Amino acid sequence: MIAQDIEKILLSEEEIENRCVELAHQIEEDYKESGETPIVVGLLKGSVPFMAELIKRFEFPCEIDFMSVSSYDGTESIGDVRILKDMDLSCKNRSILVVEDIIDTGLTLYNLKKMLSSRNPESLKICTLLDKPSRRIADIKGDYCGFVIPDKFVVGYGMDLNEKYRNLPFIGIYESENT
Ligand code: IMP
Ligand code: MG
Repeated sequence: MIAQDIEKILLSEEEIENRCVELAHQIEEDYKESGETPIVVGLLKGSVPFMAELIKRFEFPCEIDFMSVSSYDGTESIGDVRILKDMDLSCKNRSILVVEDIIDTGLTLYNLKKMLSSRNPESLKICTLLDKPSRRIADIKGDYCGFVIPDKFVVGYGMDLNEKYRNLPFIGIYESENT
């Protein structure tokens, strides 16, 4: 069974979906107020289930796009992000809402935010499903956050361990954490 390596379910499908409804509502209100029609940019691959859950609840017009980036590891300087797949749409004078699965050290989003800002968007916001603040290195915060979680390695709902477990409908703590 796929879930045999999962120590514990941290967030059930129902909890995640309920939170997505709240987040989508909050995001919608904010963009409605400002009159912006954002491009929702999912970071591949982890954001896919979360992004799908969010965007189907938006009632404002939005466009979607995807990027794939990888942060250099700790030995590299802060400020570098490697683009594996760039956006198809232009950011210039557009409102960008980046959707991410989890903010951990924060390096990926810190670098990405800096890079996207240089493309002169109208606004740039971040929506993350999970936040693991205990491991933060870069000074970055999500504008919208689903859940703050403890310092555990989690999988499911888009998140992987060596490309496995992304399709789990819940978020689980990977078992080796406690062994
Ligand atoms: P950061 O640059 O350290 O914030 O990296 C964030 C990225 O690391 C996320 O987009 C995930 O792909 C990955 N990541 C961080 N923590 C976890 C975890 O607990 N499970 C799965 N992936 C994680
Ligand atoms: Mg990721």
